[in-house]
Amino acid sequence: MEERKWPGPKGMIPEPERNAADANMHNRRYLDQLLVSMRVIDAVEADLKLDLFGKTFSSPIMMPAFSHLNKVGITGRTPMQEYALAAKEMGLVNWVGMEPDEEYAAIAAQGAETVRIIKPFKDHDEILKQIAFAKEHGALAVGVDIDHVFGKNGRYDVVDGIGLGPVLFEDLCEYVKAAGSTPFVAKGVLSVEDAQKCERAGCAGIFVSHHHGRLPFGIPPVIALQEITAEMPGTEMKIFVDCSIESGYDAFKALALGADAVSVGRGILPGLLKEGKDGVIRKVTRMNEELSEMMGYTGIPDLSEMDPSVLYRL
Ligand SMILES: Cc1cc2nc3c(=O)[nH]c(=O)nc-3n(C[C@H](O)[C@H](O)[C@H](O)COP(=O)(O)O)c2cc1C
Repeated sequence: MEERKWPGPKGMIPEPERNAADANMHNRRYLDQLLVSMRVIDAVEADLKLDLFGKTFSSPIMMPAFSHLNKVGITGRTPMQEYALAAKEMGLVNWVGMEPDEEYAAIAAQGAETVRIIKPFKDHDEILKQIAFAKEHGALAVGVDIDHVFGKNGRYDVVDGIGLGPVLFEDLCEYVKAAGSTPFVAKGVLSVEDAQKCERAGCAGIFVSHHHGRLPFGIPPVIALQEITAEMPGTEMKIFVDCSIESGYDAFKALALGADAVSVGRGILPGLLKEGKDGVIRKVTRMNEELSEMMGYTGIPDLSEMDPSVLYRL
């Protein structure tokens, strides 16, 4: 028998086999523990239509706020542009993360309704400049990923040589004001406390997320979602959720718990990088089918009828 390398206390999982700090792992486990009951009598085919910020979309499954996928493929487009085109063709909400203005413009030019998420740069003027640029390019909404403040060393992070900084409540108010008539979304909310601050700052939406595990030991976003919807009934903010939404079944669970819409992130990556737009369309089409199937069997005809009482936790 192979000798145990890790001489920890009996009963503990050996170090190399666990990563308890990985929020992705807890998230996946939690989502998988949510089961559904069936309410099939009187059930009809589901309508996935989403009304958001004055526009109508074909599904509550949205593109992710990705960035840095800038290698041009054989179509002459970058993966960022490819998934924007998939959003346009499917009638989905498109999201874009940290991209310079020039690239943002090329993505927006694909014609999808696009939300621009800007990093919490230390230089607030840069944030204000990027908000103005997105507005000029007809953004559906703008926002900041407020959860990307610290790096792994606990200091303010630096991305592509650009320094990030804290997001104070006054800063959030300033960004909301700069967005003006364009809705402002705070991405990376994982507590009622932050959600309430976002509401007070005038945000039109929050994105409940731990940004694929930026926060060690971060709670699953759908747990934060449940707390937010319980503590803030009737909030006018739109509530979006991501992290480990890989299937239409995952999407259903987040929507049933009160999300207005969800993003699929890393779930589209294999198809996107292999086949571009078509790979994304294939993935989201399947997710829409799964979501429709689950809504049908649980007797939920459309998004306005979502009902958390169909969910059970093991
Ligand atoms: C390649 C890549 C780039 C990303 N860039 C950004 C970004 O610039 N801004 C942002 O807010 N989130 C960014 N994210 C995080 C995603 O928007 C999303 O919150 C995260 O991946 C969780 O969703 P998932 O588990 O479905 O991947 C990025 C994620 C990936 C994989």
